[in-house]
Amino acid sequence: MSGAEKVVSVTGASGYIASWVVKLLLQRGYTVKASVRDPNDKKKTEHLLALDGAKERLQLFKADLLEEGSFNSVVEGSEGVFHTASPFYHDVSDPQLWYMISKTLAEDAAWKFTKENRIDMVAINPGLVIGPLLQPTLNTSVEPVLKLINGAETFPNITYRWVDVRDVANAHILAFENASASGRYCLVGRIAHCSEVVKLLRGLFPALKIPEKCADDKPFTPIYQVSKERAQALGVKFTPLEVTLKDTVESLKEKNFF
Ligand SMILES: NC(=O)c1ccc[n+]([C@@H]2O[C@H](COP(=O)([O-])OP(=O)(O)OC[C@H]3O[C@@H](n4cnc5c(N)ncnc54)[C@H](OP(=O)(O)O)[C@@H]3O)[C@@H](O)[C@H]2O)c1
Repeated sequence: MSGAEKVVSVTGASGYIASWVVKLLLQRGYTVKASVRDPNDKKKTEHLLALDGAKERLQLFKADLLEEGSFNSVVEGSEGVFHTASPFYHDVSDPQLWYMISKTLAEDAAWKFTKENRIDMVAINPGLVIGPLLQPTLNTSVEPVLKLINGAETFPNITYRWVDVRDVANAHILAFENASASGRYCLVGRIAHCSEVVKLLRGLFPALKIPEKCADDKPFTPIYQVSKERAQALGVKFTPLEVTLKDTVESLKEKNFF
């Protein structure tokens, strides 16, 4: 199905995931109304304006979640809204905890609002999103990969739920295009401990200095699984972790992050 002549909106469009959503939407022929907090900040907009189809079918809007009503013009006239804008607080003592609480409350509020207003909503819940960057700045979820290739002596004793940013963007569009999509879609390509990831990285990039030792000697968290069934039924094809890691490192290199 092509999105030709359909108008959709993307909030927080300059973000890591949203930039890929915008790219894939433009590729499929959609007209995209995209919001950023500062349309005059080139670091937030240049990579979007350079996308294929942007000249003809991308419109930028200014909107901030903290300003009541500021998204009205962004969503007006759209058949679908991809809502990815999310503030992230770095200056609290446990940002991860606050972040998780904020995401849970935000999703609950979205379910309540869409139910009350009879809006068809689907939630996409990805694991740790990595893969090539479209924006010029480093985003939080790709940082763990950069740390593993940037001269670190040890790797952290952490198991992540890895997923490719292109699969996440594709899932958003598939969920929009498929009228029977409903509820929440957990997106996890592969669950792997950092000890496994460093092995993969060493195989892919033998010339890079990649840590061999774990940061502590505590037992590794056991590997568990997150079902792929619902996402695959939607049409999501998960990119192998090796491919995602290769493309992530090449993208970081190309953008001179190491
Ligand atoms: N990356 C992951 O691993 C991951 C995993 C699970 C869920 N998520 C969720 O996916 C979404 C996108 O994440 P991401 O990794 O792409 O993050 P990102 O690159 O940091 O992008 C987030 C965007 O949110 C916008 N934003 C922040 N505060 C805002 C505000 N007050 N008003 C309007 N916009 C605001 C920023 O817009 P400006 O650039 O215009 O300032 C930024 O571009 C978030 O909701 C995040 O919680 C991400």
